[in-house]
Amino acid sequence: MKRRQLIAGNWKLNGTIKEATELVRETRRLLAQVRDCDLVVAPPYTALHAVAHQLEDSNIEVAGQDLYWEDKGAFTGAVSGPLLKELGCKWVLIGHSERRQLFGETLESSALRMKAALRAGLLPIFCVGETLGERQANKTLDVIAAQLDAGLNSVSKEDLAKVVVAYEPVWAIGTGVVATPAQAQEVHAYIRERVRSKDSGIAQTMRLLYGGSVKADNAAELLHQADIDGALVGGASLKADSFAGIVKGRQG
Ligand code: PGA
Repeated sequence: MKRRQLIAGNWKLNGTIKEATELVRETRRLLAQVRDCDLVVAPPYTALHAVAHQLEDSNIEVAGQDLYWEDKGAFTGAVSGPLLKELGCKWVLIGHSERRQLFGETLESSALRMKAALRAGLLPIFCVGETLGERQANKTLDVIAAQLDAGLNSVSKEDLAKVVVAYEPVWAIGTGVVATPAQAQEVHAYIRERVRSKDSGIAQTMRLLYGGSVKADNAAELLHQADIDGALVGGASLKADSFAGIVKGRQG
């Protein structure tokens, strides 16, 4: 089954409004002709409005990098799903390893975020991945299973069909050490199998992205794997030409 590929750029904490506007303008220009895959960028909250404005009537959609699970109220510093929607987001990242490692995201809170995103009409890109220690201790698939189950188990089938999962081994994020295509494919196949136990039809259509040091020169090989349907790109999305190189080079 052929799934439409999705390439998403996660800008993390990079980009003033001015820088983000310049980056997105150039990214839009370089990718204007791309029709055969979905494109998403996730700027910092403060640049979302400006970036969404730049992307009106384009082939690139906007994601928030995180959201809080309450819609409104006395939650100082939090940003909710309805607010992201208002800013023009169609997507939201959930459970990125930096949120898990640096900001106290737990299995339980990732589940709350998942529900909040779907309630707000946002499409979740739900991130899972093991640390180097967990891989070395042979716990990769257990860790992925626990993260996946927390995020997906309480979601209705109708909503499950909207979810994208990103497998991002923590040891490959921002390190320049990319998982081999075989290592990535093994985990992707496992994720699809696990989704199959919830719904076999959805398992066939769900898009699974790989993330972790994706660059123009390794993207094609990763994306040729049977269960890899796209990429979540950090560092290489901060330069329009390297992000465009990944998108354009993905067919090999
Ligand atoms: P990287 O980040 O491409 O810089 O490794 C990926 C991510 O964290 O989404």
